[in-house]
Amino acid sequence: MKKRLVSSILCAAMVAATIAGCGSAAPETAATTAPATTVEETETPKADAPATDVGSEKLVVGFAQIGQESGWRDAETMSIQTYASEHTDTVELKFADAQQKQENQIKAIKSFIEQDVDVIGLAPVVETGWDQVFAEAQDAGIPIILLDRTADVDESLYATFIGSDFIEEGKEAARQMAELIGGKGKIVELEGTVGASAATDRKTGFDEEIAANYPDIEIVASQTGDFTRAQGKEVMESFLKSNPDIVGVYAHNDDMALGAIEAIKEAGLKPGEDIVTVSVDGVKGIFEAMVAGEANCTVECNPLLGPLFFETAAKLKNGESVEKWVKSVDGVFTSDIAADVIDSRAY
Ligand code: AHR
Repeated sequence: MKKRLVSSILCAAMVAATIAGCGSAAPETAATTAPATTVEETETPKADAPATDVGSEKLVVGFAQIGQESGWRDAETMSIQTYASEHTDTVELKFADAQQKQENQIKAIKSFIEQDVDVIGLAPVVETGWDQVFAEAQDAGIPIILLDRTADVDESLYATFIGSDFIEEGKEAARQMAELIGGKGKIVELEGTVGASAATDRKTGFDEEIAANYPDIEIVASQTGDFTRAQGKEVMESFLKSNPDIVGVYAHNDDMALGAIEAIKEAGLKPGEDIVTVSVDGVKGIFEAMVAGEANCTVECNPLLGPLFFETAAKLKNGESVEKWVKSVDGVFTSDIAADVIDSRAY
């Protein structure tokens, strides 16, 4: 496999340096080693004013997080909470952990509305079922920021989506898988949470790219592992029993890939060699596995969205316009460069 840092990383560096974007219409946020704070195309905060300056009042934000299903999610939560704790003079955060349940996220949103927060942030656990509560927020004059995952609602019901292009992540994962297995062989797919945009779109992107360009690659099984390491392992165990001749596993996140690696080892096979892995996120654990030769590739998805989230919330409170999709710029990392970059990873 050739040594490479995919061009999007270079592009991310260019974006961070020039605030010029990568040819996309939407403004983009850089990931890799730097938090995504300084790359919006719109107005840059004045040097002597905090990014969340909303005059004499504090910016009060409610955030309904999904839960703690993965290392990626923990990194996103930490990014949000750290920003809030470092800006207590200008920001107040009301944080809810919904423990993977949409009903808990809806309850949290209703409670934020009652408390009359300035802006509501939400990482929707699933795509559908939000119309009513979003309309309630809109009636109360509270804008909604979708963070990291999309919701299947009319665009008028939310202010902006800040996050990655999950379909493109799936397509890139397919290209990486094809390169790793020489364009042929049987593979399996570990899907994320059923109904989540991150799962639906990563599957669509991957499956479409394979079907369109790699006729000799067959996806012989595809099942949810709910974005968790434990379920990734469990599902991989059953995949291995019914498909002993597979050469690769594509996991919608790194945590499930790490679970799959455990299952492959327990089956007496060598992950990274007998069965290659391609996954999404870019968490520390998958870099450690790549350095150990047990994983092959991760497609990055930036979780360090806290600063941009609050900056965007401040703009909304100030009545400024924001882009409908603030797209993250993500890289791709393969095992042959993992050792060189692992120490610089921020999550
Ligand atoms: O929505 C982003 C996804 O959610 C991450 O890839 C995954 O790790 C998390 O659970």
